[in-house]
Amino acid sequence: MRTTTATAPGKVILFGEHAVVYGRPAIAVPVTNVQAIATLTDGPAGAGCSIAAPDINAHVRLAANPSDPLALAVGLAIQETEISSEPDWQLSVTSDIPIAGGLGSGAAVSTALAKAVLVHVAHCRSCQPDLETVNRIVFAVEKLHHANPSGIDNTVVVYQQPVWYLRGQTPQQFKIGQPFQLIIADSGVASPTAAVVSDVRRAWQSDSSRYDEIFDGIGSIAEEARQAISAGRVDSLGELMQENQRLLRLLDVSSAELERLIAVAEESGALGAKLSGAGRGGNVIAVAASENVVEVREALLDAGAAGVLVAQVDSYS
Ligand code: PMV
Repeated sequence: MRTTTATAPGKVILFGEHAVVYGRPAIAVPVTNVQAIATLTDGPAGAGCSIAAPDINAHVRLAANPSDPLALAVGLAIQETEISSEPDWQLSVTSDIPIAGGLGSGAAVSTALAKAVLVHVAHCRSCQPDLETVNRIVFAVEKLHHANPSGIDNTVVVYQQPVWYLRGQTPQQFKIGQPFQLIIADSGVASPTAAVVSDVRRAWQSDSSRYDEIFDGIGSIAEEARQAISAGRVDSLGELMQENQRLLRLLDVSSAELERLIAVAEESGALGAKLSGAGRGGNVIAVAASENVVEVREALLDAGAAGVLVAQVDSYS
């Protein structure tokens, strides 16, 4: 009886959310402080394949619920192997990534499950599954969560690298000139991505030239941010975050609570802050000079943030 374990990190979008759905570039980075962990154990012959996710009280059987998101990740991964009948496996997945908080919990859970299947079938504990295959599987599952995902979440979570992402193009990794710290504060407000994305679509449909202009502005900021990050000009990221947040407000995806946390971050010494992900809830991210990071973190906790992570942005190998 063998057991295989696989993990996947969380993620945050640094610049470009929403506009990325409409073909503008965006930047996202993995957050390795939080993770999804999947374990796959061979079960007794004839037991079939089941998947448990105790954090959300879910227990699904592959054969009975093939379109459940957990089962779909496992089922699509099985299709990539030589296995032609239902395997006798017990899978379990746990995660400390907040759900519906913009940290990519769904993509991380699917990634950990798909990797566990591919590594288990390959009979090789230390090998990496083909990440392009995993990315394709996880993207297909993301489409269940919301109909029109840009693909940025699955890409950054699967490749575990900072990515420069343009819809429909091969994701590019890019140079981090100087590693820096990101303060990530959870507003504690769950905000399902699908609802916010469809509100933005409705607004864009009713006044596409105005919204296209906003998306262009966000795309240019992402472009500038990429150059600044590659050149190690971390201090210019604050202003770019402020500018990106100004445009996100125009998209009507911010909220009073997010604005309050952004103000707290900036008043306590952050160079700039913005919402990250779909908005209306979820996380605020801030960038600060290293000597101010602890103060910003504490100010956000004092202000009632549900949790604050400090993540290092670096190139991972
Ligand atoms: O809420 P999150 O972290 O899943 O991010 C959604 C990002 C959007 O740009 C709003 C949607 C997308 O598919 O890219």
